Amino acid sequence: MYTQAMDTAPKEERKPIRSAEEAQLEARFETRIDEGDFVEAKDWMPEHYRKTLVRQISQHAHSEIVGMLPEGNWVTRAPTLKRKAILLAKIQDEGGHGLYLYAAAETLGTSRDQLLDALHTGKAKYSSIFNYPTLSWADIGVIGWLVDGAAIMNQVPLTRCSYAPYARAMVRICREESFHQRQGFDALMVMMKEGTETQREMVQDAVNRWWWPSLMMFGPPDGESVHGAQSARWGIKRISNDELRQKFVDATVEQAKVLGVSMPDPLLKWNEARGHHDFGPIDWDEFWRVVGGHGPCNRERLAARVKAWDDGAWVRDAALAHASKQARKQATQEQAA
Ligand SMILES: [Fe+2]
Ligand SMILES: [Fe+2]
Repeated sequence: MYTQAMDTAPKEERKPIRSAEEAQLEARFETRIDEGDFVEAKDWMPEHYRKTLVRQISQHAHSEIVGMLPEGNWVTRAPTLKRKAILLAKIQDEGGHGLYLYAAAETLGTSRDQLLDALHTGKAKYSSIFNYPTLSWADIGVIGWLVDGAAIMNQVPLTRCSYAPYARAMVRICREESFHQRQGFDALMVMMKEGTETQREMVQDAVNRWWWPSLMMFGPPDGESVHGAQSARWGIKRISNDELRQKFVDATVEQAKVLGVSMPDPLLKWNEARGHHDFGPIDWDEFWRVVGGHGPCNRERLAARVKAWDDGAWVRDAALAHASKQARKQATQEQAA
């Protein structure tokens, strides 16, 4: 989903430009970007642009596959066969998103093994939203509505990202995210309109717990965003964190009215002069705590990922053994011919 973490990596020094030739290449690159041109994997690009993209795309990929875990907990407990089928399809989509994105990151010269190693050793970040627990079935609906909803806000501008392999992956991902958002909203509508009082309370409780973490998904405020300005100049990030957050609040408040739930924010109200909703302060201390590894489920998520990787070792070994057997067979046939 989820590009927030790109703004939380430590600030890197820009390398000095070493030669006149490199300066010329960089100037040509900047002109192409200014003209709205897309960059392909084979094109020359500044090292810092490459690094920024590897960081952003891999963090995005990690978020997709870690995001499968909180929902995976509910596959066996889905209330009906229809909801189970929908949830399975959604979780599989997220796995697919991870694959498209790892493949896009690999076009920049970093191997998938390196990327996964960074995740499994705790060096790489993923979206902090997935470090919160899913306590009831209503959480699954609220994740679709709010978390996938926030992801769509973040990701639609990325379909115009200057790095073409990333932009192309995002087109497909966004179509699928829109199904994720709708299935979540639909599950909540059923609980709110046809459910019992207890079910309606479950939905409100889930909204209360997920609202603020969803707003944090857009990353730190614009003034504190480490990579924001450079990413905007390079056409990687087209709309700022705060603008996206505001768009999300404005859209979601209307949807909450249809559902019949309220947001846990007494300061949330329409501001006629601004033409937007005002909302209360976000607890950034909590955000940094969770990003720093101290959220409710950080350890559990990482342990589940590492276990899945270790459990899958025999599949990777078998696939490699099969591929080398096929290659040997083909080589023998070619020799005989
Ligand atoms: Fe996704
Ligand atoms: Fe999704």
